[in-house]
Amino acid sequence: MKVVRGAAELREAVAELREAGHAIGLVPTMGAFHEGHLALMRAAHQAGDAVVVSLFVNPTQFGPDEDLERYPRDEERDAELALGAEVSVLFIPTVEEIYPTGFDTHVDPGRLATILEGAARPGHFRGVATVCTKLFALVLPDRAYFGRKDAQQVAVIRQIVRDLGLGVEIVPCPTVRDEDGLALSSRNVYLSASDRGAALALPRALEAGLHVHRGGGMPDEIVAATRQVLDAESRLSVDYIAIADLDGPTLAAAVRVGGTRLIDNVLLNEGEGGPVGAGPPIGPSAGVGTR
Ligand code: PAJ
Repeated sequence: MKVVRGAAELREAVAELREAGHAIGLVPTMGAFHEGHLALMRAAHQAGDAVVVSLFVNPTQFGPDEDLERYPRDEERDAELALGAEVSVLFIPTVEEIYPTGFDTHVDPGRLATILEGAARPGHFRGVATVCTKLFALVLPDRAYFGRKDAQQVAVIRQIVRDLGLGVEIVPCPTVRDEDGLALSSRNVYLSASDRGAALALPRALEAGLHVHRGGGMPDEIVAATRQVLDAESRLSVDYIAIADLDGPTLAAAVRVGGTRLIDNVLLNEGEGGPVGAGPPIGPSAGVGTR
């Protein structure tokens, strides 16, 4: 595995892989690797791609009151884990490399970036879209791998790839969860033991919503069942619960516990060979958002 920090070095390393006949799979990350990140790297490797991982805590996707400064960083541990996941190139740029002095071009996704996470975190998806577009331009990958844990991010990335003709195949990968059901996240380290107990209501609530959907429930009933479980946990405050067409019809929620904001989602209509259960089809424009 090569660890590279400059754009020129990166291009050279990727060119070598191409010359050796490999397709390139890019896994963009902000580091603090957990099994969710490693699953993306393994998926890329299993698809036969030479795997390029970027590790960059992207300042432009953090709001002014967010956790940019305290975001967990451990480059050495991450490099070891990447090596174990058969990564070929680990790209760890500086902020100056990605945003050199005078940087003044941004990718601004439209409507999709204004709902749910976009409404709660103004400018977030502009930062994500800008850095991912730059990473795509630097690496020119055949495929890029993203986790469904951030379903809206997948949808935003698909939109910009389509709109700008970036020619990258976007591969969404399933959410990896701890044994207790909590979706893995670099931010889970912020949770105290009791925060974590409360946070478990989030996956439980989404399961409850999914259950209602599978039983034929309508979108407002699905959202109500989800809310009931979240409201029963007094330590949580609900930011939103919504059904939206992200990367497919999705039940998504965001909550706060202690000082930490957590998001999670489940894909509705997922299953072998088509929709599961008797739930009504949820069309592209269906969206039930509650606050
Ligand atoms: P980060 O939060 O580090 O996540 C990197 C990738 O790992 C994303 O595609 C994310 O969806 C995926 N991921 C995180 N937790 C996961 C889990 N439990 N199961 C499956 N996949 C999971 O997302 C970002 O970084 C940034 O926004 C980035 C795309 C790198 C742009 O800066």
